[in-house]
Amino acid sequence: MVKKRIDKVTPGMVVGRTIYGDNYEILLKKGVKLTQSYIDLLKKRGFLNVFIEDKHTEDIVIEDPISDKIRMMATKDILKVYETTKNSLINIEAETGEGIIKCINSKIKKNFLESPAFYQLMKHIHCFLEEIMNQDLLSGLNSIKSADNYTYEHSVDSAVISLIIAKKLCLDKTKMKHLAVGEFLHDIGKIFVSKKILNKPDKLTTEEYDLIKQHPVYGYELLMDNDNIGIISAHVPYQHHERQDGKGYPRGLKGVNKINNSKLTYEEHGKLIMVAEIATIADVYDACISDRPFRPGIPPDLVYELIEKEAGTQFNKELAALFLSITPKYPIGSEITIKNGLYKGFTGYVMSLNEDNISRPKVKIMYDRKENTIKPMEIDLRYDNHTEIECVGLYKNYNNWAD
Ligand SMILES: [Fe+2]
Ligand SMILES: [Fe+2]
Repeated sequence: MVKKRIDKVTPGMVVGRTIYGDNYEILLKKGVKLTQSYIDLLKKRGFLNVFIEDKHTEDIVIEDPISDKIRMMATKDILKVYETTKNSLINIEAETGEGIIKCINSKIKKNFLESPAFYQLMKHIHCFLEEIMNQDLLSGLNSIKSADNYTYEHSVDSAVISLIIAKKLCLDKTKMKHLAVGEFLHDIGKIFVSKKILNKPDKLTTEEYDLIKQHPVYGYELLMDNDNIGIISAHVPYQHHERQDGKGYPRGLKGVNKINNSKLTYEEHGKLIMVAEIATIADVYDACISDRPFRPGIPPDLVYELIEKEAGTQFNKELAALFLSITPKYPIGSEITIKNGLYKGFTGYVMSLNEDNISRPKVKIMYDRKENTIKPMEIDLRYDNHTEIECVGLYKNYNNWAD
C-alpha cells in the first residue's frame, strides 16, 4: 500500500484505507475499485492524497500506530466535543477577545464540562493509551486529512506522536493521560476564531493573525480549574505555540532546552512545562506533513530537517533530538526519488525501515525518470552509503508553514 497524490490516481486503482466523510460516515471502503466519478468526488471533497493498494506495492505495509477502531473512536469523541461546544456559542463573531473569555467562563465552560461528549472522551482515553503503549517508532505515514476533518484527525495524530515521545521518556500513566487530553483538545480554542480566517488560502493580515494567536488562551480558559481534566492538560493548549527562544505566543515564555522529568509541574508560573514542549513538536510535525486548504503536505524529510534546524530556538533541543531518534526521515510508504548516481531521477517508495538506522530504509524503485514503469528494484540503503534519496512532494517551501 502506498499514499498517492489524487492527481496521479486513475480509475481501476483500489482504495487501501477506508476514506471517511465530514461526520465519519464511510465515503469509500478499503478494497473499493476507484471510478472517475469517485475520484472526482474525492477531489471535490478536498482530498489531496489517497492510500492505494495494488500487487506491486502489497509488500509495503503501512501500519497506523493505532487501530482503526480506536482512531475512529477518538476522532468521533473530539468531533462531538467540538460540536457541543460550538452549539453553545452565540454571536461570538461580534465579541472581542475579552468578551469571548467572559463568555467561556460564564456559560460555555459549564456546558462543555457537563456534556456527555466530554464525559465520553475522558472515559475512552485509557483505551487510546493502551494501544500507544505498544509503539516505539513513528514508522508509517499519518492519516488522510481533508479540510473538514483536519482538526479532529490532526488532534488525534498529534496525540499519537506526543504519547510515543512520552512513552520513550517513561512518563507515568497520569502524565500520559494529561498529555492525551491536552493534545486532543489543544486547538479547541480555534472554535472561537472565524472559520473564514482559519481556512483562508491567502496570506493572513496582521489583524487576522492576531485573532488566531488567541486560540491557546481560549483553550486554556475552557479547560482550566477543573479537577477532572487537571491543570497540566489545560497548559498544553495554552503553551503549544510557545518557543524555546521566547518568540512564541501568547505569552512569549522561554524554555531551557533540556529534558527534565522532575520538573513536570506547573507551579513555577510563567515557565514552559515539558508536557507542552512535547505537544509543540508533535503539533508542528503533524501540521507540516498534513495537507491543508492553503498548501499540500510538506514532504516528511523536509519537516524532519525543519525540526532539526529549529531545535534549540523553536523546540526544546533535547526533546527534539529524542523525537528525531524515533521518527524516520522517510516514513514507510513515502514516495521517494533518487538524487544521485546511475538511477538519478528514478522514483519509488520506502518499503521498510532498518531498526539500527531508521533513516537509511529499504526502498523499492518502480519508475524511471520519464515515469515509465520498470521492473521493480529493491535498494537497501543500510548497505548502500552512496545513494541519496528525497521524498517527492509538491510543496517544498517549508519556511511558509503555518498551523
Ligand atoms: Fe494551535
Ligand atoms: Fe495544532
